[in-house]
Amino acid sequence: MGKKSFYVLIVGVLVAYYAYIPLPENFEEPWKMMWMNTKMKTFVHLATFLELLGIKHFMDSMMIAMSIREVPPVSDENVTVTDTTFNDIPVRVFVPTRKSKELRRAVFYIHGGGWCLGSAALYNYDMVSRWTADRLDAVFISTNYRLAPKYHFPIQFEDVYRALRWFLRIEVLEQYGVNPERIAISGDSSGGNLAAAVVQQLLDDPDVKIKIKIQSLIYPALQILDVHTPSYQENAHAPSLSKSLMVRFWSEYITTDRSLEKAMLLNQHVSVGSSHLFKFVNWSSLLPEKFKKGYVYKNKMYGSSEITKKYPALLDVKVSPLLADDSKLRNLPLTYILTCQYDVLRDDGLMYVTRLRNVGVQVTHHHVEAGFHGIFSFIEFKMGSRIINQYLSWLNNNL
Ligand SMILES: *[C@@H]1O[C@H](CO)[C@@H](O)[C@H](O)[C@H]1NC(C)=O
Ligand SMILES: *[C@@H]1O[C@H](CO)[C@@H](O)[C@H](O)[C@H]1NC(C)=O
Repeated sequence: MGKKSFYVLIVGVLVAYYAYIPLPENFEEPWKMMWMNTKMKTFVHLATFLELLGIKHFMDSMMIAMSIREVPPVSDENVTVTDTTFNDIPVRVFVPTRKSKELRRAVFYIHGGGWCLGSAALYNYDMVSRWTADRLDAVFISTNYRLAPKYHFPIQFEDVYRALRWFLRIEVLEQYGVNPERIAISGDSSGGNLAAAVVQQLLDDPDVKIKIKIQSLIYPALQILDVHTPSYQENAHAPSLSKSLMVRFWSEYITTDRSLEKAMLLNQHVSVGSSHLFKFVNWSSLLPEKFKKGYVYKNKMYGSSEITKKYPALLDVKVSPLLADDSKLRNLPLTYILTCQYDVLRDDGLMYVTRLRNVGVQVTHHHVEAGFHGIFSFIEFKMGSRIINQYLSWLNNNL
């Protein structure tokens, strides 16, 4: 073997080592997955490196990498697409072009990206929004909101809520030809978190008379108290969303101070003074047996009261919709929850399914056995388009 081919071989081995991730047997299109994961991993490493050098905040680099995938609002033969604002919040609106004799259904959508990244203009969101508007003959509102690290909780929540309240007024619904009795609120990941939180908030809002018909939550993040659930442990290094990245997202949502992130990685960010809240996120009592596997629930994981005092958001139900009590949950609308097996957020979704069903809320739960976090956004994956199709037919039949 010549020197040159030896080096080529070495580089090849290193690349393969970098790109390779052990995937479960039931994984579809494993090579596509590894390729996508390698790209993501490279972005994360680059962003981490630039942050180490003090050049750019991690999330700012990630945002630049992502914004390449943004598309302008372009109408097609079936759907008219416009960027506008609702109460100063930028939204993208998709309205079917064909005439309709009846009032239309509507979906109000909140994109994911860990409260730090993403926008309604990302190619994948734009496509799914179009499909939904076209297939359901529905008005589709995809909202933006200000993001971390520049803005923290409650800005994200409040932006979404302001846009939503603007939309849920009779005169605006009339303007868009929307049937006020057939409105869904939906979101994925951190968008699912915001969707669940605003739907709860609506229940207590005397100014909003419209009743939401459906909430649909796609692998939502629903609680910040316990980042040591079996799914966080099992999928700490899963493709697309690692535990460390999710913890970073959570902590950036609350603060730029990285001491919260450190405490969270040890799962010691909530003090014993708040132990009464753990019953709402107790995976030992809320997870179906098959997801608990061999994991042992430890009650002792309380941290310093300093951190908990410093960040009251840690105990806020608007950050962790799972902290709502049963009397509140009871009034929630028909719910669709999608969970993926290989996802740190899996158990958040599973626990919400249990809690909602316990108080009699009707829940359709779709668990994707070979699914991983973000699959709803990977529209070029066979599994992604299949899941979106299943979701759309459910929505079509229920909204
Ligand atoms: C518009 O709708 C027609 C009929 O359903 C379909 O064949 C066509 O592909 C759609 N166009 C786009 C751009 O999606
Ligand atoms: C969690 O649930 C387990 C089993 O149901 C129970 O033994 C434990 O005391 C609970 N802990 C908390 C903090 O609610």
